[in-house]
Amino acid sequence: MLDLLVHHATLPDGRTDMSVAVQDGRITEVACGLQAPAAETVDAQGLLLSPPFVDAHFHMDAMLSYGLPRVNASGTLLEGIALWGELKPQLTFDALVERALTYCDWAVARGMLAIRSHVDVCDPRLLAVQALLEVKRRVAPYLDLQLVAFPQDGALRDPQALENLQRALAMGVDVVGGIPHFERTMEQGAQSVRLLCELAAAQGKLVDLHCDESDDPLSRHIETLAFETQRLGLQGRVTGSHCTSMHSMDNYYVSKLLPLVAEAGVSVVANPLINITLQGRHDSYPKRRGLTRVPELLAAGVNVAFGHDCVMDPWYSLGSADMLEVASMGLHVAQMTSQAAMRQCFDAVTTSPARILHLEGYGLEPGCHADFVLLQAHDPVEALRLRATRLQVFRRGKRVAQSPAATATLHLPGRANTVSWMHSSR
Ligand code: FE2
Repeated sequence: MLDLLVHHATLPDGRTDMSVAVQDGRITEVACGLQAPAAETVDAQGLLLSPPFVDAHFHMDAMLSYGLPRVNASGTLLEGIALWGELKPQLTFDALVERALTYCDWAVARGMLAIRSHVDVCDPRLLAVQALLEVKRRVAPYLDLQLVAFPQDGALRDPQALENLQRALAMGVDVVGGIPHFERTMEQGAQSVRLLCELAAAQGKLVDLHCDESDDPLSRHIETLAFETQRLGLQGRVTGSHCTSMHSMDNYYVSKLLPLVAEAGVSVVANPLINITLQGRHDSYPKRRGLTRVPELLAAGVNVAFGHDCVMDPWYSLGSADMLEVASMGLHVAQMTSQAAMRQCFDAVTTSPARILHLEGYGLEPGCHADFVLLQAHDPVEALRLRATRLQVFRRGKRVAQSPAATATLHLPGRANTVSWMHSSR
């Protein structure tokens, strides 16, 4: 007897009336109209069953700290970094753990079961590293938390950063981070990219650098990152995050750059909510959007994900762990409005970030972990339009969250008495 059988599901690839069979936490079969005895049966009623949402770029040490010790008055990246520096000495282990656990609750309720979080290593106590390693251990049954050793104040600009970063890796942090555009000079930025990639290659770690989060068209560390990736044989193991300067770069230069990024197998994470608010702050009008060139990167064959980056922290005062909100903003800012592009936006918060995190057993194929989300939508486009309610969330075949369907009762003469806003274009 199966542990769980979901039937009458629509899958993100468009297949309808599909059944998903689960045994011992894994998917054993995916087929049309499957009949089999199961301990529990879920009727999806034609709605979308998706693999879980994944956030490839987040800062779990800073989130939910909005207003501590003050708000970011200018709304700029640099004031946010300064504000985070003021807050860091006031952090406590218990408060860090409690805020992170709260956020993981929000994530699970939104069907997000994997997060890559950067953690600042420029505090010699490595308090946030200790706290998030504890959180990683505690949430492991229901959420994959991957940590990046992130030298927020610059791997070279802060004299202790590289040593602290190596200590963090030794403590169990998974990924090497960096911030080349924040180093003192372009040369130091390029040197930091080389050093950090060499460190990752020597220790068998993945790489994820904050790369060119700037409106400066000459911030070209992504070029160095692609070069070092290829030189060190790190293809498929490296990510450039933000890459907003690409928005402002010269088109001719970009036409050379994109094939190099694709050839090196470097993934890119765009963070639309945060970068549409942070970038272009030095502009009057016209005001640049500052999001990296998502459709062009995709067309060049680059794996692109959308990240949440921030929730209620020194850089961004909003957010609620909703990756459909993130994808919706990316869709709008990048003008990805064709049916195919909208589906790519859905992939950018599911399958694409799963590749970046190297998640084992992710997907809706036989043999994958039985992790999935039943959405109150008929297809990925409708899910984006409605930021669809996560009706049921499963992890290893067990229900970990559920929400009532979004609906309203109407009191209009001669009209239906409820609405749910669903109107599939299929
Ligand atoms: Fe970030």
